[in-house]
Amino acid sequence: MTDTHAATQPAPRGKGAYVAVIIITAIVTYGIVALLMNINERKQESQQHYVKLVDLSEKTIDPAEWGKNFPRQYDSYKRTAENTSRRHGGSEAISKLEDDPRLRRIFAGYAFSVDYRERRGHAFMLEDQDNTERVKQFKQPGACLQCHASITAAYREAGDGDLMKGFEKICAMPLKEARGLVEHPVACIDCHDPQSMQLRVTRPGFIRGIADLAKHVAEELAANAKKPKEEASSAPLPHLTSIHQWARHRNQGSTDEYDVNALATRQEMRSYVCGQCHVEYYFKGDKKTVTYPWHNGLRVEQIESYYDANSYKDYAHAETGAPILKAQHPEFELWNQGIHARSGVSCSDCHMPYQREGAIKVSDHQVRSPLLNIARACQTCHRYGEDEIKARAETIQSRNKALLDRAEDALVELLDTLKTAKSGNVDPKVLEESLALQRKAQWRVDYINAENSMGFHAPQEAARILGEAIDYARQGQLKVLGPK
Ligand code: HEC
Ligand code: HEC
Ligand code: HEC
Ligand code: HEC
Ligand code: HEC
Repeated sequence: MTDTHAATQPAPRGKGAYVAVIIITAIVTYGIVALLMNINERKQESQQHYVKLVDLSEKTIDPAEWGKNFPRQYDSYKRTAENTSRRHGGSEAISKLEDDPRLRRIFAGYAFSVDYRERRGHAFMLEDQDNTERVKQFKQPGACLQCHASITAAYREAGDGDLMKGFEKICAMPLKEARGLVEHPVACIDCHDPQSMQLRVTRPGFIRGIADLAKHVAEELAANAKKPKEEASSAPLPHLTSIHQWARHRNQGSTDEYDVNALATRQEMRSYVCGQCHVEYYFKGDKKTVTYPWHNGLRVEQIESYYDANSYKDYAHAETGAPILKAQHPEFELWNQGIHARSGVSCSDCHMPYQREGAIKVSDHQVRSPLLNIARACQTCHRYGEDEIKARAETIQSRNKALLDRAEDALVELLDTLKTAKSGNVDPKVLEESLALQRKAQWRVDYINAENSMGFHAPQEAARILGEAIDYARQGQLKVLGPK
């Protein structure tokens, strides 16, 4: 009895402890409430990070207008006009042809042998296109403007409200005429919805290209499902999650088209906005419609197979007559083959990293080399010193450069061999086979040369492509030189 009594009735001396518990509870409660209030305040601060001073619409092209509502993003956007020179490339419109005279021979017979420069910041995209000899000395179509101007509004206007119709119309116009319809380089309206500020894509070439790619992924998944497990290849592009989801529905009988603006995840969009322009493309047919060759997939040989099936060539090589493909800045395609894409790291994570301004997180709109900003572009994920991270990236780049040099040498030596062969009496059939090998070798060398990360976006893939390029070039030589 006494035992239970002792357990239920607190001893008089416990009263002090009781009061202490109440006081501590009060203090802790106060602390928690204060913290919650503080968090809430900061949340509100970061939500109310803009004051709506002007109404934005599909007709507000001028970024300065958007800048009134979003001064921080506008300030950094303007800084794409700053010089950003780096070891591999930079911002001075340096001539690639003077840097590397082999390119003049490789592109002989095409406008790129006349003028071909390093890229610069976004602020220059329109004037650099105006000033290139490829525009001054050659007739070009309005299609060129898709990636060099804020052209969304002009497409809508030309198509009486229909973006696609206007796009096709302007692509087919002479560039000189179409140029009068645009005024600004890429601007806010090209990546953002003016009402919600959500990311969106506006480039018709991309909207169609990514839908073609989605169909290919669905086909590849369906083919995989039929194979025995050990033969099934690994899922293509697993990081493009909305495409995979759509592909599964399609393979279960859904007939909806892949609509990128409705379906893409926010993280996908952070790369798709860049994939609007940083891609391989060609002008299809007489109407010169900008087309992304992704119908068979995004890898170098999948793109090649699309061009081969359509017997497409950009030009006939002036020295050899081979039907050549010119590769253009395939950043999106190469990134997709690399470990960063596979790990869900977007273009914007590295090229537009977040920066804090008080409680506000702002995306750096000064799109540029991430190696100029390693602290925010890389160290958020990689806990190594700045020098170490830079050394890792530059090691990848210098190895890539060394292999690229050897591949270009091999290609130029194939040109020499073919030139001699053409003036001798080589079996025309053998010659033709060798020209086909030139096309394959050159497509691969050019693909990595035209890609702007010097191998960084997917080092192993870049090395694979260059390895194949060297092999094809030497095979081409062996064809005409080898014993019969
Ligand atoms: C699919 C998008 C796209 C289209 C279409 C496009 N460009 Fe570009 N262009 C780019 C991108 C991205 C860069 C920057 C990367 C680079 O220079 O490799 C660029 C760079 C350039 C440059 C600067 C570097 C250089 O090559 O000298 C010029 C000049 C240029 N383009 C002219 C043109 C002309 C002329 C056309 C039409 C024949 C055209 N572009 C069509 C996306 C495009
Ligand atoms: C409307 C087409 C377009 C879009 C969209 C676009 N770019 Fe570009 N980008 C270009 C062109 C064209 C150039 C080359 C401009 C020149 O050389 O005058 C360029 C240049 C660059 C450069 C070189 C900058 C320098 O300082 O040398 C980087 C880096 C870059 N873009 C990354 C991106 C990223 C990342 C995105 C997405 C957030 C993106 N771009 C979206 C067309 C585009
Ligand atoms: C993991 C980080 C990372 C991701 C993700 C990434 N890049 Fe890059 N990118 C780099 C680095 C590093 C370089 C090399 C910069 C240099 O040499 O100064 C580079 C170079 C470039 C260049 C040439 C820049 C210059 O200043 O010459 C362009 C253009 C570019 N990337 C576009 C893209 C696009 C488009 C995507 C997405 C499809 C992308 N990058 C994804 C890190 C990244
Ligand atoms: C080439 C595409 C591109 C262009 C052009 C562009 N932005 Fe962005 N913007 C982005 C990306 C990518 C983000 C990150 C969005 C996310 O993570 O959801 C972003 C984010 C934003 C945000 C949300 C807050 C933040 O900083 O993350 C605002 C506001 C914004 N941009 C304003 C602007 C304004 C104003 C302009 C024109 C001066 C502009 N943007 C031009 C791609 C672009
Ligand atoms: C959002 C996170 C993120 C950012 C930002 C990022 N990385 Fe990475 N990086 C990764 C992941 C994930 C891997 C894959 C390896 C792993 O899982 O640890 C990786 C791998 C690498 C590798 C090894 C590549 C290979 O092919 O083996 C290098 C080098 C690298 N990163 C450099 C950089 C540089 C330079 C930057 C800045 C320009 C950068 N990373 C930005 C997440 C990131």
